[in-house]
Amino acid sequence: MKKILFVASEGVPFIKTGGLADVVGSLPKYLSKDEFDVRVILPKYLCMRDDLKNRLNYVAHFYMDLGWRTQYVGILETVYDGVQFYFIDNEYYFSGFKPYGNIFEDIEKFAFFSKAALSALPVIGFQPDIVHCHDWQTGLIPVFLKDKFHDGPFFANMKSIMTIHNLKFQGVWDVKTVKNITGLPDYYFTPDKLEAYGDANYLKGGLVYADVLTTVSPTYAEEIKTPFYGENLNGLLMARSHDLRGIVNGIDYDEYNPDTDTMIEKTYNARTFRKEKIKNKIALQKELGLRQNDKMFMIGIVSRLTDQKGFDLIAYMMEEMCQQDWQIVVLGTGEERYENMFRHFAWKYPDKVSAQIYYSEAMSHKIYAASDAFLMPSLFEPCGLSQLMSLRYGTLPIVRETGGLKDTVQPYNEYEGTGTGFSFCNYNAHEMYNTIRYAHSVYVDKKREWNKMIDRAMAADFSWKASADKYAEMYNWLA
Ligand code: ADP
Ligand code: GLC
Repeated sequence: MKKILFVASEGVPFIKTGGLADVVGSLPKYLSKDEFDVRVILPKYLCMRDDLKNRLNYVAHFYMDLGWRTQYVGILETVYDGVQFYFIDNEYYFSGFKPYGNIFEDIEKFAFFSKAALSALPVIGFQPDIVHCHDWQTGLIPVFLKDKFHDGPFFANMKSIMTIHNLKFQGVWDVKTVKNITGLPDYYFTPDKLEAYGDANYLKGGLVYADVLTTVSPTYAEEIKTPFYGENLNGLLMARSHDLRGIVNGIDYDEYNPDTDTMIEKTYNARTFRKEKIKNKIALQKELGLRQNDKMFMIGIVSRLTDQKGFDLIAYMMEEMCQQDWQIVVLGTGEERYENMFRHFAWKYPDKVSAQIYYSEAMSHKIYAASDAFLMPSLFEPCGLSQLMSLRYGTLPIVRETGGLKDTVQPYNEYEGTGTGFSFCNYNAHEMYNTIRYAHSVYVDKKREWNKMIDRAMAADFSWKASADKYAEMYNWLA
């Protein structure tokens, strides 16, 4: 039995700001229990839901050095859906309204978390063969494993994997402060190790010291070796390309299932969508105060509102999009300029545009179920889960051909009768707009073709099955 430890800053159902949480919360469930003992360590945030906080049991506590500081480390645990979760408790670090705050606070917070996660292992008596780290918040773990923790038999043979969910965020701060916080010696702060362009870089530490690097789609694994997508680490990723692989994400097919979903107006499946899916559209039009007309082409967006997701293209075309017989339903939070842009158009075209500027699991399910198409014209996209959820709900994705979007959405080919969505190549607003118009024309003029595309979209399998096997194979090879 191989022992695997996931360490991450978020995981469903406990805490989520984006797709990272979905992956950390669902992948462990889909790894074979006969082959692997997978456990997960997360921070215990004060902003977690009360019912989830209340189910955690105290395990132990100890005090740990962090540079010149000595900090309390509490350990809590619970089993959820058959997976063992541990939580690192420290109210000084984890009592914010959100998991992440100012970067200078987060830098110390996640140095603490990374060291505490490793230090907790002998206390809970779990000695993993592999520590699987996710994103910059855990980038110091492979470094610590090669440093202090290396002495003594407990940690000496532990392997590590660094998974990049988003290369844009690297955890960068000045060398002096990071030395002071981590207690790591000068040796590590050179350009071939933690230092990048004069600063200390957590993710880079992970990428230099982990035994294997992965990212969340094959296309993104290629893209990040180039300057455009490489976020200044393309040289390092190129140098380590033999250790870098791309494994596409899956989604939890129990949680995202239109046939059993209790959050939507009317459930449906691959046989019944022709009749039933539309009831979700009518219900949502009613709920959001949009014009109630089941023939209107409804475009859904559920997203963090950041430039990563291509909102500059949408902002540029929004006025023209509103001249069409389309409805645009947005659920998201993020940069103010995009929040206000959508609020403006919802005010100007109340029967066509709805801007839901908040976070809601239930509303996201309603939008996945109700919409005809799902728009995701990302500038870059490591994998993307929203388009997978859309496919599952028979809502056809309209995407830009980048990263995981390219690997998961097969563009419609009207001559061969293939495809599960629509896509365009260049980061260009008119290309996006013309692709939406094309999708709309198929929706209006070739309803049978559209429905056949829904058949194919709903039959596409992006459950964790295939991808969990790829992780299993990697774990077996490495351990
Ligand atoms: P990213 O991780 O870059 O934000 P993904 O597509 O991988 O993008 O994952 C986004 C996840 O967050 C999806 O599960 C999506 O449904 C969810 N999500 C994003 N914004 C909201 C919101 N405002 N309310 C509910 N869910 C949201
Ligand atoms: C990141 C990426 C997203 C990916 C998710 C989970 O947030 O932006 O593309 O799906 O991580 O891996």
